Amino acid sequence: MYKNFRRDIRWNISRTLNSLAAYIEPELAAIAQAGTWKSEHIIASPQGTRITLSNGKKMLNFCANDYLGLADNKDVINAAKIALDKYGAGSSSSRVICGTQEIHVELEEKIARFHGKEDTILYTSCFAANAGIFNTLLTADDAVISDELNHASIIDGVRLCKAKKYRYKHRDMMDLESKLQESKSARLRLIATDGVFSMDATVAPLPKIIELAQKYNAITFVDDCHATGFFGKTGRGTEDYFGCLGSIDIINSTLGKALGGAIGGYTTSKKEIVSLLRQKSRPYLFSNSMPPVAIAIGSKAMDLIIDSTRFLDCLIINTEHFRNAMIKAGFVISGDNHPICPIILGDAKLATTFADKMIEKGIYVIAFSYPVVPKDEARIRVQISAAHSIEDINHAVIF
Ligand SMILES: Cc1ncc(COP(=O)(O)O)c(C=O)c1O
Repeated sequence: MYKNFRRDIRWNISRTLNSLAAYIEPELAAIAQAGTWKSEHIIASPQGTRITLSNGKKMLNFCANDYLGLADNKDVINAAKIALDKYGAGSSSSRVICGTQEIHVELEEKIARFHGKEDTILYTSCFAANAGIFNTLLTADDAVISDELNHASIIDGVRLCKAKKYRYKHRDMMDLESKLQESKSARLRLIATDGVFSMDATVAPLPKIIELAQKYNAITFVDDCHATGFFGKTGRGTEDYFGCLGSIDIINSTLGKALGGAIGGYTTSKKEIVSLLRQKSRPYLFSNSMPPVAIAIGSKAMDLIIDSTRFLDCLIINTEHFRNAMIKAGFVISGDNHPICPIILGDAKLATTFADKMIEKGIYVIAFSYPVVPKDEARIRVQISAAHSIEDINHAVIF
C-alpha cells in the first residue's frame, strides 16, 4: 500500500515535470542554435596559474579572477585549515540565530579598516550583498540611478526595491546629470555603478560621479568586485585609482576574486547603514552565515595586503608586460591598464576558434561574443595574475 502510494506521487510529479521539460526544450535548442551555450571545463587541481583538467591536460590558466594569486597561496590555505579545526565546518545557522563566530566580527572590522569605513557587513557573496542593499535602504519615495551596463547582481538588486528606477547610458556623465535632474523630486537619490566593468576593463568615471552626486545631493554606491585588493595605488579599489579614497558612500565587493578566491561578499559604509542592513537585509537574515574556512581565507588575504603592495606590484608588472607585448604583436586590447585584458577580435566565430586553439595549445582563455558583448566586438578575455611568471606571459603571447 505504502509502496503504491509513493509510486503514485512520483508518477504525478514526473508527469508535471515532463510538461515543464517540454516547454524548456525549445529554449535549450534556441540557446544552442544561437551559439551561446555555456559549457564547463572540469578542473581536477587547485585553482591557480597552472591547472589540470579532469582529462589530465595541463593548462596555463589566464581566465581566473585570482588577480593577486592568493587562491593557492600557502599562508591562505594554512589559515583555512586552522579555522576548520578551530571553528568547524559551518554554523548551521544564519548570523542572527547562532551563526556569528568571533572570526566573522574580526573580518568585518578588518574590511572596514581596509576601506576606511565605519562598519562592514558580510554576506555569502557579493551577489547576495547586491540583492539585499537597495530594497533595505530605499523606499518608494527614493530613486536609484544605475549605469546601463552594471553587473547582473546590481540589476537584480535594483529590481527588488520599490524606488523609482533610472538608467543612464554607460559612463555617460551628461546622461547621468539629466537623470539626476529628472529625479529631483525623490526623497533620496542613489547613483549605482560598477567600479570596473569586467567585459571591457573600463573604469567608472568616479571623480565626475562624485562631483555630480555633490551637486545634486545624491548617494554614491560602487560595486568594486573587479578592483578591491588590486586596483589603485594601494589596491583599495576604484576610489584609490582616482586618488579619492573615502569619497564613495557605499562600497560592495567580493571575497571571491582577488581576496583568496573562495566565497563571500560585503557592504562597507557608515555604521547606521550597516546596522539597518543587519536588521532588515533579507539575504543576510534568511541565509546561512559564511563558513569559517571562507572567513579565514578572506581574513588572511586581507592580512597579506592591508599594509603591503607586494602582490599588487607583481600584478602591475605582469599586466604592463602582457598589454605591451600584445600591442606590439598587433592586437587591440580594450580597457584602462587593468589586469582584465579583453583582446578584441570582432568576429564571434574567430574569437571562439581562437580560444579553442589556445586551449588546444594548453592556454586556458575564454571567448565572449554577442549578446554578452556588443555585436562585432567578440573578444578573448585574458586575466592576468600576480602569480603568473614573465615566462608564462611570454608563452601565452607567442601563441
Ligand atoms: C561586478 C560584480 N559584482 C558582483 C559579482 C558577484 O560576486 P560574487 O561572486 O561574490 O557573488 C560579480 C561576479 O562576477 C561581479 O563581477
